[in-house]
Amino acid sequence: MNSNLPIDLNSQNLPHHVAVIMDGNGRWATQQKLPRIAGHRQGARTLKELLRCSKDWGIKILTAYAFSTENWRRPTEEVDFLMILFEKMLRRELEEMHREGVRINFVGDLSALPKSLQNEMQRSMLETSNNRDIQFNVAVNYGSRKEIVSACRQLAELVQKGEIKPEDISEDLIEKNLYTVDIPAPDLLIRTSGEKRLSNFLLWQMAYTEMYFTDTLWPDFDQAAFQQALISYQNRERRFGKVKAVLSA
Ligand code: FPP
Repeated sequence: MNSNLPIDLNSQNLPHHVAVIMDGNGRWATQQKLPRIAGHRQGARTLKELLRCSKDWGIKILTAYAFSTENWRRPTEEVDFLMILFEKMLRRELEEMHREGVRINFVGDLSALPKSLQNEMQRSMLETSNNRDIQFNVAVNYGSRKEIVSACRQLAELVQKGEIKPEDISEDLIEKNLYTVDIPAPDLLIRTSGEKRLSNFLLWQMAYTEMYFTDTLWPDFDQAAFQQALISYQNRERRFGKVKAVLSA
């Protein structure tokens, strides 16, 4: 499946799950003397290319942070544009993604989104649910703290109803009540545009994720830039709290 993998990447040590914070669309547009929304449009093209490249290289899960719970504070025109862009992209790209074996999934509080967008999201998740080549998660109206609060409430209700005991609450049970249920944790997070923070993205899930920050603005994050991120990942030693692996005698 990954015959196109660049020779400087090791197919045995690819991240299974890559998450991206697509930052810098506005700055890219300003640099080009274009309105901010042109940056988002270009950013969507970049995401499409990254999805194709991830699939070709044998990465099994790609998760993109498209809209945070804090992004509602942006000017109304920009928020409206993004909602329309998500819906348009879904309508336009669904058939091709389905053909290419992409399983689409949305994470976040979708109930606050425009009804027509919610319908389009449900339809695309259902239609592609049996696809197995790559899982593409898009975080929309996503906030990690809100997600954790929601999991706590669901578990508290189960305790209240007597269905579980407080001591039954485990890491595993919490994970089962997050939006990302059944999605393994990201192995690599990429954030573009020089910002070095998580901005309320997958806080629980990224406890052991490798972080890669680059100054490249999201619309310019091309295949070569992705390759650099993967090379950096492959040069790291993941210990998950343990000491360096020793060869057994
Ligand atoms: C951050 O850049 C980007 C966003 C908040 C929007 C991301 C959305 C897309 C790239 C479109 C994706 C499309 C689909 C279909 C999922 P910024 O606006 O904060 O940039 P700035 O920091 O330079 O202002």
